[in-house]
Amino acid sequence: MEANATERPGGSQAPDMPAHVAIIMDGNGRWATQRGLPRAQGHRAGVEALRRTVRAAGDIGIRYLTIYSFSSENWSRPQSEVLDLMALLKRFIRKDLADLHKNDIRVKIIGRRDDLAPDILALLVEAEDLTRDNTGLTLVVAFNYGARDEILRAIQRVAEAVGECRIDPAEIDEKMVDRNLDTAGIPDPDLLIRTSGEQRISNFLLWQCAYTEFVFLPVYWPDFGQDELTAAIEEFRTRERRFGGLVANTGS
Ligand code: FPP
Repeated sequence: MEANATERPGGSQAPDMPAHVAIIMDGNGRWATQRGLPRAQGHRAGVEALRRTVRAAGDIGIRYLTIYSFSSENWSRPQSEVLDLMALLKRFIRKDLADLHKNDIRVKIIGRRDDLAPDILALLVEAEDLTRDNTGLTLVVAFNYGARDEILRAIQRVAEAVGECRIDPAEIDEKMVDRNLDTAGIPDPDLLIRTSGEQRISNFLLWQCAYTEFVFLPVYWPDFGQDELTAAIEEFRTRERRFGGLVANTGS
């Protein structure tokens, strides 16, 4: 287990800067429809926004950026759209992996792997393996990800350990759950941004967002970039974080 696996949000960053930003990239379809374009064009523009955002996050000094790129529920979209999103992911990794690596970015994938097509899985593993020792921004790509599924898989692993008498149920604590999630070793998000004006968490990082600050922006994802990221961080910096306790020095 890495030393910071159960670190509370805030990490090692200056107290008012988020160390970990998570993003629900929403609104590609509406962005395209608004322009009379097919939805696929919205997803393509979404990849451009993703490139801008990764660059901006690195420049700002964010340590972890987690993006919701394909949820467990996205399989229920029309097959043509699912194929399009898969193709975009493949193209993104093939085209951008060398650049990410050159920029010292470490790629980490979270989500269920056992039902992925072998070519996709191989690319994801290649991205992780190539960038494993990089020390800059960690880009966490949530792919085929659903938080309830992640928690269920963690419960299954812990239950197996109990069944095999390797642990006693009384030993199960938050740290053990953390260690068995896909995000083991990654501090909880400080800030979660959702674009498009929707205000839901949509089965994203349910365990990890216990004390995360949420910022909902009324822009569609393809229009997101450095200015919007900076604005969300400015909003985050005005928030008073108490983690269930009281504010220091005020007694309030
Ligand atoms: C939500 O927009 C976005 C997604 C379901 C996928 C996000 C994907 C990208 C930004 C591009 C792909 C990037 C990678 C790395 C694969 P939506 O389609 O739900 O928009 P809508 O709510 O307006 O219909």
